[in-house]
Amino acid sequence: MLNSPSNINTVHFFLNSAGEACYTLHHKDESIIDTSTLGFDFEGAPAIKSGLSILKNSTSELNETWEMPWGEQRFVENNYKEMVIELAENEAPNRHFNVYFKAYDDGVAFRYELLAQPGVDSVMITNENTLFSLTGDHTAWWIPGDWDIYEHLFNTSKVSEIDALSVIDKNNLAQTNIPQNAVNTPVTMRMESGTHISFHEADLTNYSGMTLKVDRENLSLTSSLVGSERHNYKVKRELPFKTPWRTIQIADKATALIESRLIENLNEPNKLGDIRWFKPKKYVGIWWEMHIDVAKWDYGMTSDSAGHWIDSGNAHGKHGATTENAKRYIDFAAKNNITGLLVEGWNTGWEHWIGFEDREGVFNFITPYPDYDLEEVVAYGKANGVEIIMHHETSAAPRTYEQQLDTSYQLMQRLGIHSVKTGYVGKIIPKGEYHHGQWMVNHYRKVLETAAKYDIAINAHEPIKATGLRRSYPNAIAREGLRGQEFNAWAADGGNPPEHLPIVAFTRMLAGPIDFTPGVFDITLPTKPNNQINTTLAQQLALYVVIYSPIQMACDLPQNYEGQPGLEFIKDVGVDWEQTKVLNGEVGDFVTIARQEKATNNWFVGSITDENERDIEINFDFLDANKTYLAKVYQDGDNAHYQSNPTALKVSEFEVHQNDIKSFHLAAGGGLAISLVLVD
Ligand code: NOJ
Ligand code: CA
Repeated sequence: MLNSPSNINTVHFFLNSAGEACYTLHHKDESIIDTSTLGFDFEGAPAIKSGLSILKNSTSELNETWEMPWGEQRFVENNYKEMVIELAENEAPNRHFNVYFKAYDDGVAFRYELLAQPGVDSVMITNENTLFSLTGDHTAWWIPGDWDIYEHLFNTSKVSEIDALSVIDKNNLAQTNIPQNAVNTPVTMRMESGTHISFHEADLTNYSGMTLKVDRENLSLTSSLVGSERHNYKVKRELPFKTPWRTIQIADKATALIESRLIENLNEPNKLGDIRWFKPKKYVGIWWEMHIDVAKWDYGMTSDSAGHWIDSGNAHGKHGATTENAKRYIDFAAKNNITGLLVEGWNTGWEHWIGFEDREGVFNFITPYPDYDLEEVVAYGKANGVEIIMHHETSAAPRTYEQQLDTSYQLMQRLGIHSVKTGYVGKIIPKGEYHHGQWMVNHYRKVLETAAKYDIAINAHEPIKATGLRRSYPNAIAREGLRGQEFNAWAADGGNPPEHLPIVAFTRMLAGPIDFTPGVFDITLPTKPNNQINTTLAQQLALYVVIYSPIQMACDLPQNYEGQPGLEFIKDVGVDWEQTKVLNGEVGDFVTIARQEKATNNWFVGSITDENERDIEINFDFLDANKTYLAKVYQDGDNAHYQSNPTALKVSEFEVHQNDIKSFHLAAGGGLAISLVLVD
């Protein structure tokens, strides 16, 4: 038996009559996981399943505090009790393995360690059979267990009604593979008692991503690893090795899930040392103009019969990444306390990416198009306090990217560029691999490690999910891994519904920072008659606080911000936090988060709601006592509504103190953003 430090969560580990490894999990007096078995199937070796004996059982504990170089909070408490169970098969092949459990007050985690055996130095895992036997038909917020992409809308249903195969979305996705009724993680559930639980994994290293296969009758989940069609196994490893942690976060109320740092705590400490070369920042980008069809990534080059590119001189006239356009964004950024500029479509290859099968050897990560002077843009940015963010779209041809990793990072290093947004749109080449399988997990890691050598931070799109690795590799700054803002520009299904982000905050966001790219002011998207943003403008502001990322985009075009009162909030809002408090919220309905800026001690509050308008109360008891704060409030204007009147914004100012409690109205699809500046 293993108890968490305050005896809130309890794990029991035992062998059943067949000698199978089993565990149960309790939270206070409530059963969270009923008897569940553990084991593996292998290629070329018998399964590890039954006939086991416990050789040894030892416990230990740790209570430490570590400092995040950037994050939701400066200090993180890592306080757990650990139990290691050493197991062996009673009969041949008499293999030995260990199971590690860690019990925290905010959840429980466990991992396997497979050990070397005489004459056996590697394994090929075909299935990891970790069972999570649920104790009721909980309400679940889930996306399908897609092997290739996380960019799905969340579904809300009872576990008994999860039907991942019914949500296959061929219209909006350049790659997707949902082989069975499984969900991806983090998947969050509310039990009838009101207890909230969320399943995920931590420290995904040299292994496949885990989906959870749903048994609708028995109300259980089983680990189901992402596979590859190039092999008859899912994971191949030298022995000994440890699997990723399987995690279950547990909270009495939904808001506590967001405050849990369990996933980061389960990763190893910082391996990179001082990373002050990366500074959390707000950024603009030559980006949204492509998504709303105002500009293009490609320069419209053609090739001659010998395959040589011919400069056709921006024939379509819409190339976005020009020197002049970049300078326009830099001027705007410099005026508005924004210190980064992302430029997409700057390099050759964009004539031949999405929609083409033969994408290897196409993208070049050091060669700009003729109308983009990289050096000049970088110098102009430097002179104006704006650092360029590099962009490497790989078009899911990772071998081509790997060939150019060193040269492209050397170029960045020479120019003083410290971050890159990567992308993996399309089906992975080589055919048969998937974005979330072991082969790609290793690719993403190679990119992170190589980048670190050049003082470069990675913001991956179409990534592998976040599993807390930012603790060990703090150059893993943010990633996509959800349906981001871009879907609002072009999705054939009308974009992200208002409940999307009130679900994301309690699901995807538990994994780590999100490059969602908030800040659209021109909500109705005049150039996209069939699309719109399903939030109010006030909600777009609130997202700078609600959605955590050390890089936050102001994604709209400069001309859409000019003269708008809401721009001041984007200018003022922090991006690096001393502490975070989740003030209220329910999954899929609403959430209010307060964050204190590290550099100034000012606070910022963001609140968002789904399609229902509501009044929320904010208790300002998180403020310092005996201090006066000037609150600047950006809220939905009278009659604001995400569909009919999304841009109505009301701005007001008043003084606030620690003992104040105030009520605010949020429109349907609306939000609230407050900056609280210390005045004395
Ligand atoms: C998909 C990314 O999510 C998006 O942000 C980017 O603009 C395109 N790929 C092109 O790289
Ligand atoms: Ca994407």
